[in-house]
Amino acid sequence: MIECDSSDYRLLSEAAASVVGIPGMTCEIGVRKGGGTKCIIDGLLQAGDEGRTHLCIDPYGSLPFIHGVYVDPERGVLHLQDPRGHYCNAMRCQCMIDLLTYAQNLPVNLLFFTLTDTQFFRLFAGGVPVYERQETTLGKYALVHVDGEHSLGAVVGAIEFFHARMSLGGAIVLDDIDRFDHELVKKWLQFSGWQLIEEQGRKASYRKVLATPLDRLPPTTAFSVLDAPETALGRRPDPVPAIPLMGSDATFVLGERPGFVGEAGE
Ligand SMILES: C[S@@+](CC[C@H](N)C(=O)[O-])C[C@H]1O[C@@H](n2cnc3c(N)ncnc32)[C@H](O)[C@@H]1O
Repeated sequence: MIECDSSDYRLLSEAAASVVGIPGMTCEIGVRKGGGTKCIIDGLLQAGDEGRTHLCIDPYGSLPFIHGVYVDPERGVLHLQDPRGHYCNAMRCQCMIDLLTYAQNLPVNLLFFTLTDTQFFRLFAGGVPVYERQETTLGKYALVHVDGEHSLGAVVGAIEFFHARMSLGGAIVLDDIDRFDHELVKKWLQFSGWQLIEEQGRKASYRKVLATPLDRLPPTTAFSVLDAPETALGRRPDPVPAIPLMGSDATFVLGERPGFVGEAGE
């Protein structure tokens, strides 16, 4: 049995089942023992959605996990640390064995990236090479489960990356929404053309329903914020011009993005 670690997985399988016909890859950030990825695979296949490429992104390696404050060696900012550090490489081996065994004869193309989310974003911003009789570079996404680090900055970094690459009609599912300022994230998503599908317990799911000018922006803003120590200590970066939201009177000021707020105070 492939174990899950959270709750409300119904939202995830329903989101997976809802992207039939929406082009793009599916993806899980933070895989642990594989329960979330299995749930996505099952949701896709129960809806008759065959042939997807699904990405599993997780560094394992017993890295400190965000639940308390510490200096991140990669990002150089303050985060919340889980002292357990128990997402070890042995877990990665077992997870790969379990998921690959499960998916071996299923119509899903499972790919593993033993990388942090930020390394993946840097290395695969231009798409992921996929081999099936020929090489194809896939750059669009239909569904993402964001369940890696639970800092506001990490969640916003993921959302910004996938927002720019998500097909219209695609979905994002956020886990552990009680661990970061979900209301700010919700506001950002709704201003950026996303609709809340459902919020229950520890998860929330959103669908991209509107193409916005933000789609054309490079996904750099959250990273540059995370790289700036003064932001991690609570200072906001200089405001940047507001961008009008297509099909709406609302405007969204990039400098007001949720990732810029309260990172050190979590
Ligand atoms: C809460 S568990 C994921 C649970 C899994 N999604 C499920 O539904 O069963 C968090 C995972 O995030 C991974 N992780 C930690 N830092 C990460 C990072 N920077 N990028 C991606 N994954 C990360 C951990 O190794 C761990 O496996």
